[in-house]
Amino acid sequence: MPAIVLVGAQWGDEGKGKATDLMGSAVDYVVKFNGGNNAGHTVVIEGPDGSREKYALHLLPSGILSPNVVPVIGNGVVIDLSVLFQELDGLNARGVDTSRLLISANAHVIAPYNRTLDKVTERFLGARKIGTTGRGIGPTYADKMNRVGIRVQDLFDPHILQQKAEAALSFKNQVLVKIYNTRAADAARVVEELLSYAERLRPMVADTSLLLEEALKAGKNVLLEAGQATLLDVDHGTYPFVTSSSATAGGACTGSGIPPTRVSRVIAVMKAYTTRVGEGPFPTELFDDLGETLRKVGHEYGTTTGRPRRCGWVDTVIGRYATRINGVTDFVVTKLDVLTGLDTVPICVAYDVDGVRHDEMPVNQSDFHHATPIFEELPGWWEDITGCRRFEDLPENAQAYVLRLEELIGARVSAIGVGPGRHEIIERHPLLD
Ligand code: GDP
Ligand code: IMO
Ligand code: MG
Repeated sequence: MPAIVLVGAQWGDEGKGKATDLMGSAVDYVVKFNGGNNAGHTVVIEGPDGSREKYALHLLPSGILSPNVVPVIGNGVVIDLSVLFQELDGLNARGVDTSRLLISANAHVIAPYNRTLDKVTERFLGARKIGTTGRGIGPTYADKMNRVGIRVQDLFDPHILQQKAEAALSFKNQVLVKIYNTRAADAARVVEELLSYAERLRPMVADTSLLLEEALKAGKNVLLEAGQATLLDVDHGTYPFVTSSSATAGGACTGSGIPPTRVSRVIAVMKAYTTRVGEGPFPTELFDDLGETLRKVGHEYGTTTGRPRRCGWVDTVIGRYATRINGVTDFVVTKLDVLTGLDTVPICVAYDVDGVRHDEMPVNQSDFHHATPIFEELPGWWEDITGCRRFEDLPENAQAYVLRLEELIGARVSAIGVGPGRHEIIERHPLLD
């Protein structure tokens, strides 16, 4: 059976958690392949009595909420062990069975000094800051590339762990003390903290790449779920205003150990408008009351940091780019309900950069920084769409909006979100074969 990749098309928070949850009952494994607890996925599950249970997941794959799914943290993820266990305890306390969780022995661990470094680096950058989540993500990936990182498997060899912590700190303590004027980290204490998690971690650790290959051979469905999104990808995003991992479809293979030849489908989740958290360019951003309205109606406040999200209209230049970079076969367009009640709904179809029209993402980041959107205005709709479950149930203008998006982004829109709940979705084409 094939592997399916699910990515974000914009700057994150598109509703990937909800989309994964939607497929939960039909997949066997959900693998998180990049990022760490910088991600924040909100999943809302309706009870039979109409009650709503809200779950905020950071490090765990969203599939953990589906009873038959095996959730996997792949080798491409960076793990803050205290957050991992807090999240597991939180779910267990709410009656969620997390005992199936598997963690790659090759995943890297966020050491406490990297959380410190993330925060002090941002402070040091001042006006040039990235606006990171402060979780130590960037410094941990930097350590991985620098070959001074600590991996999950190192926790089971205290001698190696001590050596690695000392090696990393021999340099980092110079930076912490001499450049950032802060306290040095003590290698022995770092080792002690990490080792305190080892025994609880041990039964979850596995050769996840091998297990996933065996699962695929046995005909199981494997969903590879991205954190972050296309424009936050370290290679293909709006660098340097990106995260430090590969959040696009290519990253799904390196971050899980599943080869590209196994992937049969790539689903991208795209909000019916656009949001961004942190710094960096955003051509369709709104600075007026309409932006505030989108933020309020769409509850656009970060799941991880609580920061208000920057809001703007949908951008199909970005949509087309996401289709190209990820090889998208299907889009899930979320939050269409948030656009209800507007006279007209603008769609960005291209950019104007110093008088020159760009139909594709400008290759130079400086051009993207001062790109002015060229909009097409579509008529709005006023009817409540949250109860719609078939495409034909949507008001004609809402249908026309989705069809125009589909045409501009170059891949079919297979599902449409009309509310935060698990069942508030219109499925036009099956997301699984
Ligand atoms: P993720 O990081 O991509 O998983 O997305 P987040 O969970 O950070 O943000 C998406 C937010 O939108 C969450 O609060 C979801 O509950 C909510 N959401 C998802 N789909 C829809 C939808 O179709 N309509 C509405 N109104 N909310 C949605
Ligand atoms: P999900 O998975 C939105 C942003 C941060 C910052 C930049 C770098 O919920 O879509 P980092 O801490 O990763 O070094 O920060 O990336 N960012 C996100 N924005 N959704 C996310 O994840 C994000 N993860 C990181 O705000 O601008
Ligand atoms: Mg999020």
